[in-house]
Amino acid sequence: MNYDHAYHAGCFADVFKHIVVLAILRKLQKKSTPYCYLETHAGGPYYDLRGFEASKTGEAINGIQKIWTLDWPEPIMQDYLALIRQVSHFNKPNACSVYPGSGAIAAEVMRYNDRCVLQELAINPFIQLERFFEGNKRVACYHQDGYAGSKAFLPPLEKRGLVLIDPPYEEVHEWKKLKEYLTMALKRWPTGIFAIWYPIKDRWGIDKNLSKLTADLSQPFVRLECCPLLDDVPYRLNGTGMCVINPPWLLAEEIRPIANKLAKAFGE
Ligand SMILES: C[S@@+](CC[C@H](N)C(=O)[O-])C[C@H]1O[C@@H](n2cnc3c(N)ncnc32)[C@H](O)[C@@H]1O
Repeated sequence: MNYDHAYHAGCFADVFKHIVVLAILRKLQKKSTPYCYLETHAGGPYYDLRGFEASKTGEAINGIQKIWTLDWPEPIMQDYLALIRQVSHFNKPNACSVYPGSGAIAAEVMRYNDRCVLQELAINPFIQLERFFEGNKRVACYHQDGYAGSKAFLPPLEKRGLVLIDPPYEEVHEWKKLKEYLTMALKRWPTGIFAIWYPIKDRWGIDKNLSKLTADLSQPFVRLECCPLLDDVPYRLNGTGMCVINPPWLLAEEIRPIANKLAKAFGE
């Protein structure tokens, strides 16, 4: 496995994904009953944006670093930016030097009775996760394949919650694995919220794969996308998407105007 998220932390795709995750968690928190947040591909807890990997690609420059100085009246954007300020380090007022992973974001907003299960296959980010959450009884970290490992957690005891599926798409058979995973997971937990991140390179390819993935779903789903670049250049990351199955009420309405504003901010 070659993928290392440290090269991409804080990029525009991370920002959009984390806003959608936060929006879903906030909607789950509208009820007092606890929820479970499960990740199949957790990555590390934090990423040093001044480190070798992030500096090499500079992807956070057109991501998290871009949006501080803009005006964001939307409650979920204020919530997200306040959270990043709270959990990150800043070397300058508007420059984030350490950006959190999705697991750290979810753990930060959890209430006393919610639970977080993080699975990661690569040893380095897993060790970082384990160290970071050591002693936190509400967060469990597992060094395992998140597709196979999830079986043990579905359905969760809480019977409410979110599963984030955020694979690196480096394997030829990733979409096939995703489909098999979803079929298994929805059979076990038909009412769970499942959010699948996907990269938008060539539009035709992504639409084809998503159509196959969602073809026989009996659950409702939405595709939330933020596309800063025209999707006519297939080898670059033109946009980013989240396919949310069993989306919470009004999620798309909340995200749509933000996706458009972010796309303009991140666009060339
Ligand atoms: C896109 S990154 C995750 C980023 C993270 N979810 C976030 O938003 O901050 C994908 C992660 O999946 C891990 N990974 C790859 N294949 C995996 C598998 N089969 N099971 C669990 N983790 C896997 C990689 O090591 C990498 O850390």
